Amino acid sequence: MRAVAVTEFGGTPQLMDLPKPSPAAGEVLVRLVAASFNPFDRAVFDGFLRDLPHSFPLVIGFDGAGMVEEIGEQVDRFRPGDAVYGSFAHVPLGRGTLAEYIAIPENTLIDHVPDGISLKEAAAAPGAGMAAVGLLEETRIEARETVLIVGASGGVGGFAVQLASARGARVFATARPDDAHRLRSLGAVETVDYSTGSLVERVQGLAPDGIDVLLDLVSDPPGFLANVALVRDGGRAASLTYAAQADLLEGERIDALNFSLRLHPRAHDILEALGRALSGRPLDVQIEAELSLEQAAAAVGARGTRGARGKTVVSISPEDL
Ligand SMILES: NC(=O)c1ccc[n+]([C@@H]2O[C@H](COP(=O)([O-])OP(=O)(O)OC[C@H]3O[C@@H](n4cnc5c(N)ncnc54)[C@H](OP(=O)(O)O)[C@@H]3O)[C@@H](O)[C@H]2O)c1
Repeated sequence: MRAVAVTEFGGTPQLMDLPKPSPAAGEVLVRLVAASFNPFDRAVFDGFLRDLPHSFPLVIGFDGAGMVEEIGEQVDRFRPGDAVYGSFAHVPLGRGTLAEYIAIPENTLIDHVPDGISLKEAAAAPGAGMAAVGLLEETRIEARETVLIVGASGGVGGFAVQLASARGARVFATARPDDAHRLRSLGAVETVDYSTGSLVERVQGLAPDGIDVLLDLVSDPPGFLANVALVRDGGRAASLTYAAQADLLEGERIDALNFSLRLHPRAHDILEALGRALSGRPLDVQIEAELSLEQAAAAVGARGTRGARGKTVVSISPEDL
């Protein structure tokens, strides 16, 4: 099968011809139709999780969607022919979604594709959509609250803006000027240009009494701390980049947290909640670009967290999309 993989941590992703896997007991074999990129893909093949077991060649990618082709013994959740999607993350790491096939335990973070969405949308949604759903739940965002989303223009942000605005929150979204219109169309009531001047001063001008909730998807610890100053006493703040440090987590002025999908005890519930949101269609899946598997090898190597305006999807079996 064709797959995008590296042969060592930090290696250059290459399109390889690898053996087609077969499902062991408890596993499903999925013929992948589409996959999508996340910033975490690069971190993993660079060795961010090197303390966990990996297998090489390490096939890159966690998010994807496709059709169950075969099931191993003792599989009860899925049948051949089922359309499935999710975050196909399993230890040892290295069975990735930038491939024509993946064999993976059925209890991995995968589920049936929600009604009414395409396999392309399903492939684009899992990691970013689950992070957004989880952030909204953990910060308990309510109607009429003011929510600042920092990093709103990327994969997670597209979902988070829509979900917060669907709850009736007043969403302030960071956006470069050329992207402000798109974020307003997703539900932001204000956009804040972070590329020049002080983000903090601009938000203070919009909410002199402070914001209720900060969802910070991108900042480092000093940047997060600066943004936290915008939160009113008793408000909430969440970081997606583990930028909330101990003194903030233990302090009493605001309720601060680091959100981790990978370590979340109810990740399967979050995937189910994402499925409900996608099938109800309040959520538009923002697809910025579509690549072939051949193009994916170069792109996943080059892509950092810069410049995303939604999700990049890789079509693996274009005739099925
Ligand atoms: N903890 C978890 O469970 C979890 C789950 C999912 C994602 N994440 C992490 O969350 C982060 C965001 O993920 P993503 O998928 O949304 O990434 P993404 O698609 O690459 O989007 C990041 C966005 O942030 C913008 N940005 C960069 N610096 C900014 C700044 N200082 N202020 C405002 N916006 C800024 C970027 O645009 P410009 O480059 O044009 O500025 C880009 O649009 C990544 O670090 C990812 O690894 C964590």
